[in-house]
Amino acid sequence: MKNHGLYQLFIEELEEAFDAEREMHRCISGWAHQASSAELKQFLHKHQKETDTQVKRLDKVFSLLHIHAEGKVSETMRGLLRESEDEKRESPGTLDAAIICSILKIKHYEMASYRTLIGLARHLHLDAQVVDLLTTIWNEEKSADAVLFKIIEGLNFESSDQVVNQ
Ligand SMILES: [Fe+2]
Repeated sequence: MKNHGLYQLFIEELEEAFDAEREMHRCISGWAHQASSAELKQFLHKHQKETDTQVKRLDKVFSLLHIHAEGKVSETMRGLLRESEDEKRESPGTLDAAIICSILKIKHYEMASYRTLIGLARHLHLDAQVVDLLTTIWNEEKSADAVLFKIIEGLNFESSDQVVNQ
């Protein structure tokens, strides 16, 4: 017998994660268009495909649980994305840094969501495939976080940014 309240929480979080991935997918090509760093552009193109696969993995989770996503909106993701909309900076290096900053915030939100979902799925003794799918996405989010961290460390500001005289 499932703990109904906990199961409800799991489903709400799952629906939020589903909405978050779809919203993220919608925004990635805009960032790729704005980015200057070749590494960042490459990451974004790869990440768009990965995000598309994550949406499919979550679809699979819903079908394993025999439920339909009811369209719960992730206000957190939408707020984070709104913050990064039409990011304008004077120099390409700073714009790349601003884009990475936005995506890193999103990655940490997603990592927290998937970590929680994995914990709840285990408590609820859900299908092992559900736990595996969520764990795969969580690992992808952690890898994306690590890659972004490396990219921001390697950004070249000197060639593109004006030096501010103090
Ligand atoms: Fe994701």
